[in-house]
Amino acid sequence: MDILVCIGSSCHVRGSYSIMNELKSMITEKHLDSEVYIKPAFCLGYCKLGVTIKVDEQLVTGVTRENLTEVFDKYVLKKVD
Ligand code: FES
Repeated sequence: MDILVCIGSSCHVRGSYSIMNELKSMITEKHLDSEVYIKPAFCLGYCKLGVTIKVDEQLVTGVTRENLTEVFDKYVLKKVD
């Protein structure tokens, strides 16, 4: 599974860097390092709704540190189980 995290300027301002780091920690914590890969991406086209990520083909907008656990459970953990 690939997770693209937008590091375009709008998402960057909204904290995409810390979201990317947080996601990396969550993946390591769940021992998914060999299954889930995080990659930075340039603008995914939904700047006003950022932070934007893409989990395989699934686009997820409005990701924040506050809802990241929920997003991770729904779009990552449920799909790798
Ligand atoms: S800057 Fe992230 S979607 Fe455009």
